[in-house]
Amino acid sequence: MAHITTPNAQLNTNGKAIPLLGFGTAEYPFGSSDNVKECLLDAIRLGYRHFDSAALYRSEQPLGEALAEALELGLVNSREELFITTKLWCSDAHGDRVVPALRTSLKNLGLEFVDLYLVHWPVCVKAGEYELPVKKEDLLPFDYESVWKAMEECQKLGLAKSIGVSNFSCKKLEKLLSISEIPPAVNQVEVNPLWQQQKLREFCKEKGIHITAYSPLGAKGTLWGTDRVMESKVLQEIAKAKGKTLAQVCLRWAHEQGVSVLVKSFNSERMKENLDIFDWSLSPDELNGISQLPQKKGFLGVEFVSPDGPYKSTEELWDGEI
Ligand SMILES: NC(=O)c1ccc[n+]([C@@H]2O[C@H](COP(=O)([O-])OP(=O)(O)OC[C@H]3O[C@@H](n4cnc5c(N)ncnc54)[C@H](OP(=O)(O)O)[C@@H]3O)[C@@H](O)[C@H]2O)c1
Repeated sequence: MAHITTPNAQLNTNGKAIPLLGFGTAEYPFGSSDNVKECLLDAIRLGYRHFDSAALYRSEQPLGEALAEALELGLVNSREELFITTKLWCSDAHGDRVVPALRTSLKNLGLEFVDLYLVHWPVCVKAGEYELPVKKEDLLPFDYESVWKAMEECQKLGLAKSIGVSNFSCKKLEKLLSISEIPPAVNQVEVNPLWQQQKLREFCKEKGIHITAYSPLGAKGTLWGTDRVMESKVLQEIAKAKGKTLAQVCLRWAHEQGVSVLVKSFNSERMKENLDIFDWSLSPDELNGISQLPQKKGFLGVEFVSPDGPYKSTEELWDGEI
């Protein structure tokens, strides 16, 4: 079966170009499906080449199995054709735990290196379980210096081709840039028509940091998601007039903003639908309608906020950028 080839963008490191449409592997509750490997193989057959995992998601092992099988079956010719991201969970965000955490992830994935390794959140919790919500009594200050130095070590060791962050505000990126030897290649954040992140996108463009959009459909039905995107009347009307689905309108809109986009579906028909966004575009009127949608962040991260923790409010977690 012919598959769709997704376009790429170059990162600011020596890393390989990042495919602009990626496949999300965060199902909620984490690790709740028993057919993840088959879903991932299906995705590879359809043309997805960029996979987003995390120690938290419990998807590293099925992803590794799917990648090995895809290579064996000849669905991809070599590891080089795949772009694999995984993330450091908050309980490993301690200087001495970062390299071992990546080695464990690589073992789970059955890979020698990942294309991108991300600090999942600017949050540290006591070493222990990979869980969300985290235990509020376990929250500790995030040590930029030691964590980022260890992330740089991951790249120097060749265990990660590129390194980056996720859920960082402009202010936190400034701080990171001021202490980094290797700047972050990527900031992976929530981006969808109801949380467009204009300011952060402009800041990252200026600093050469690529943005990857997560929850482009609002992640309906998850702990971190909202129904508001899929239920937006404006988006429903645009989709109807255009003869596209609302999901395709969201994905195309994000693509037209110059970011890479991660979307999760474990349903074959929706996987196909989500890939079909590259041979049409939104009109200036449609883009204008979307640009005027009232903005409201879906995932505030209240899980990481505590009166006794380093972030006392969501305002502090996001440095007022919400
Ligand atoms: N760095 C971070 O902190 C962070 C946070 C959140 C997400 N992420 C990453 O980003 C990926 C994508 O974001 P997300 O999973 O949060 O949310 P999302 O992709 O916006 O939404 C996923 C939900 O939408 C449904 N869906 C997918 N395609 C659809 C379509 N065409 N029509 C209708 N419903 C559709 C899926 O259900 P079905 O599976 O049943 O189709 C699933 O319930 C994640 O999987 C993860 O890899 C990262």
